[in-house]
Amino acid sequence: MRQMIIGNWKMHGLRKAGTDLASAITTEIGTILKERDVVLAPPFTLLHHLFPLLSEHGVGLGAQDCHAEIEGAYTGDISAGMLADSGVSHVILGHSERREHHHEYNALIKRKVMRAREFGLCPVVCVGESGRQKEENLAEEWLGKQITECLPPDFDGIVAYEPIWAIGTGKAATQQDIESRLTFLHDALARHLETDDKSMRVLYGGSVKPEDAASILAVPGVGGVLVGGASLSARSFLGIARAG
Ligand code: G3P
Repeated sequence: MRQMIIGNWKMHGLRKAGTDLASAITTEIGTILKERDVVLAPPFTLLHHLFPLLSEHGVGLGAQDCHAEIEGAYTGDISAGMLADSGVSHVILGHSERREHHHEYNALIKRKVMRAREFGLCPVVCVGESGRQKEENLAEEWLGKQITECLPPDFDGIVAYEPIWAIGTGKAATQQDIESRLTFLHDALARHLETDDKSMRVLYGGSVKPEDAASILAVPGVGGVLVGGASLSARSFLGIARAG
């Protein structure tokens, strides 16, 4: 399966800097797209502006969230329909930072997943344990609960394993950690979806850098990476996208 490289810009990027970054990436992306799929997820404010440039170069446009309702009196929120209308193809849902700062929970994330699919968006659903859950050997219990409570039984999107303890720390999980967790996640997904097919794309996210991208992408079961900080540098993001 083609691996996918997603750049999650988080709350970074005014129009000029965002355009410069996207331009620097798309200028070099051609050969990379022969082997891998690439999606950039800028802030909402840049979606409409960047769509023509990304679309022209075969790079997908991603969003970092969407509301669970179709439309309505939800001040400040963005609907899945609005994202589709802006050219978005993928939407990151349930990121640990939204769980933390916006108090998102599994049932809400599941509703967002259903709404995103209703508007033709590919959900990229984030799962991942905290450092404490890891230390207390509660990680698999937590990950299993996220899979069963966030994903509908016919889910056909993408899962991103993002151990919270590796996000923004500069220290990615080891190859051994990643292989162990992804094996568990593929098994949990097969059980939940009642299938023998374990080919669902499961990405790794959490301090991915050009220096370790090749080893992470080589781990069996890794369907790609979800990149935060390193996606804000064209040199670093391209280094990750062409690694291996
Ligand atoms: O969504 C990806 C993000 O959470 C990872 O961030 O900065 O650790 O690559 P970072």
